[in-house]
Amino acid sequence: MRSWAKVEERLAGLAGRYGYSEIRTPVFEVSELFVRAVGEATDIVSKEMYVFADKKGRSLTLRPENTAPVMRAFIENGLHRSGGITKFWYQGPMFRYDRPQAGRYRQFHQFGAEAIGHAGPAVDAEIIDLSLAIYRMFGFTGLEVRLNSVGCPVCRPGFREILTSALVSMKDELCDTCGERAALNPMRIFDCKECGDIKEKLPVITDHLCDECSEHFSGLQSILRGMDVDFMLDPLLVRGLDYYTKTAYEVLHPGLGGQNALCGGGRYDGLAEECGGGKIPAVGFSAGMERLMENLPEEFAGKLGLDPVDAVFILPEESASAEVLRIAGELRSSGVSVSVDLSGRSMKKQMKVASESGAAFAVIIGPEEIEKKEAAVKILASGGQESVPFAGLTAWMIQERKKVD
Ligand code: HAM
Repeated sequence: MRSWAKVEERLAGLAGRYGYSEIRTPVFEVSELFVRAVGEATDIVSKEMYVFADKKGRSLTLRPENTAPVMRAFIENGLHRSGGITKFWYQGPMFRYDRPQAGRYRQFHQFGAEAIGHAGPAVDAEIIDLSLAIYRMFGFTGLEVRLNSVGCPVCRPGFREILTSALVSMKDELCDTCGERAALNPMRIFDCKECGDIKEKLPVITDHLCDECSEHFSGLQSILRGMDVDFMLDPLLVRGLDYYTKTAYEVLHPGLGGQNALCGGGRYDGLAEECGGGKIPAVGFSAGMERLMENLPEEFAGKLGLDPVDAVFILPEESASAEVLRIAGELRSSGVSVSVDLSGRSMKKQMKVASESGAAFAVIIGPEEIEKKEAAVKILASGGQESVPFAGLTAWMIQERKKVD
């Protein structure tokens, strides 16, 4: 948890430096939100949601993702009326009834960001840059950005027809699920892991984009090139959520195998309207926290261990515990971190553990020290020892800690 907390702190700092503010949404929402936003024919909605009825029979769902809840909260709280671009980041648990395997869990965590209120490709570029900055910050190398445009309600219906007619002759080659999808939502076939060969033969959306989507896509590519962001065009990338319009992208890590997406995102200009909020363009991404934590480069992961305390208190006898706990409390309230060894093990063993803990001081307080009202303090780096009166121990330690630092 210490490593997680440190990484989360760094992520919050990073998002803050990009001008994003934190938003927290409830862990469950009305099911209808995800059905409408993510799409009925997606795997997330059709197979992976944790749905339950509350006491009044309303259907609720543990959030499988956080873009729809953020948009719901944004509209419900009237933030769309303030205009401009609203930038949020979030972090928290998501739930998908998926087949658990390495890098894929039923409760997992995402860090994400959403920029709501502007349609221009520069915002997409900022979002992609922010997501890549995460992995740069933690020393990842060899990442791949896959980029596509999935069109919009103007060009997608035409493409869907082209795709549907191309699929007619390939029907027998499709897996059972895709056979059903072909009629309901043919673009989901690009998501299918089983229909790999067929995907290569299908027409691609980027050959059928309307002028606006085409311009947006080339605009985004030229901004990314201008920012020296490497990317690969992947016309087969549709992502597993229906709300995307125009930009869709993923950041892949070659070491991740099957579950190789560290993060993914895109533009969702129609979602606000779907949530009852009018036409508000938006773009965002989410990064899997487990996939980040499990793949942290060695040299960074090594820096995430426990922070040592300033002082370890050693008790030669349990009878000293009340006095020791009282003194430790005084030190803590002045900002000195103290761990009291209450194990009852031998002095020698306690001293060994203290020396190896990385603490600056070992403080011995037994009946003898209590009698004299003086602690025996060992400065662990130098091996030096001093007797320090209880009354002056806090001030002494704050002073000495500066020297050690
Ligand atoms: P997503 O691609 O479904 O997108 O999830 C984003 C990331 O969450 C994935 O790339 C992966 O790292 C992680 N992830 C997803 N499912 C699991 C799982 N079962 N176990 C572990 N990690 C997982 C979204 O959720 C969109 N809301 C992204 C977005 C934000 N689009 C626009 N704004």
